[in-house]
Amino acid sequence: MTRISAFGPGRVNLIGEHTDYNGGLSLPFSIEDGVMVTATAIAGDRIEAIAYDIDDGAQDAFPMAHPPRDGDDGWRAFVRGVVAELTAAGHTLVPARLEIAGTLAQGSGLSSSAALEVALALALLGLAGETEPDRLALARLCSKVENDWVGAQTGLLDQTASLLGSDGNALRIDFATMATTSVRLDLGEWRLATVDSGETHSLAASGYNQRRSECDEAAWRLDVHRLSDATAEQVATLPDLLRRRAEHVLSENARVDEMVAALRARDPEEVGRLLDASHASLRDCYDASTKAVERTVRRCLDAGAVGARMVGGGFGGHVLALFPPEMRLPKGAYEVAPSPGASLVEE
Ligand code: GLA
Repeated sequence: MTRISAFGPGRVNLIGEHTDYNGGLSLPFSIEDGVMVTATAIAGDRIEAIAYDIDDGAQDAFPMAHPPRDGDDGWRAFVRGVVAELTAAGHTLVPARLEIAGTLAQGSGLSSSAALEVALALALLGLAGETEPDRLALARLCSKVENDWVGAQTGLLDQTASLLGSDGNALRIDFATMATTSVRLDLGEWRLATVDSGETHSLAASGYNQRRSECDEAAWRLDVHRLSDATAEQVATLPDLLRRRAEHVLSENARVDEMVAALRARDPEEVGRLLDASHASLRDCYDASTKAVERTVRRCLDAGAVGARMVGGGFGGHVLALFPPEMRLPKGAYEVAPSPGASLVEE
């Protein structure tokens, strides 16, 4: 193999936010937009990379055996991290030129980071002849890149959704066991749409890492391995701030299975109610909303959405809303539907 392309889709999380790193439940789906990486074998011992859309054709080059760690937390850190972690995990890579092109805005809450990591990993492995890697192992590896090379203490939601998502389905993920189940997402003429709040976030710099350490502290105080293992009675004993964080996690886990039931019953009104309830919890218990996100949620509801909520890490990014049939979508709204997960692309 001398040249191969791989596509990593972004994801929309229907529900189950800030539950992944707490051993809870989520229900994301992979979307049509994402990142494409074309890898071409080159002579020598280096990896070369060029980022078209995401950085105007900026480049990087480094020795394959020693990807540099110089504190960069932009796209270069992802490339270097994926190369380093694949090698550390025992994969034999080949020197390559990587062309990166994407249709996902960075920091938008639609998982541009996971789309990039996943496309890079699949392309690098594909070029080396590994065309069917273990996808769960790869999700963990990509998440490690984010934690150790980019500095965002994110969980496994985005990478799992990108790698295991499938056309027409949402993916119920139980992060305690990493068991996944496909759930048909078909609401007839009702449409899910995302609207950009206009505020971008860097997970590494937002309140994300702080929320994660608050949850760790809550779990530690309650002496449970994962916060999702705590009972409502235990959570009630926590000091106010930690109690609110934990209440969000427990109630959000419950909403994931209520959402699965609503999808199976094809009940869009109930889907809308759950989106609203998730948003209220993220805003009031998790303090993950911003003025721009609130304005965007309001705009969706005023335009007739039956429910709207922030998606992803919060602190900016996109809002997801459900609109009844034939209702005009508000300006800037972009319809989303479950699309195929990550794959190698025939040239
Ligand atoms: C980001 C992280 C995920 C997850 C969500 C919140 O997208 O990358 O791991 O924690 O935020 O649900």
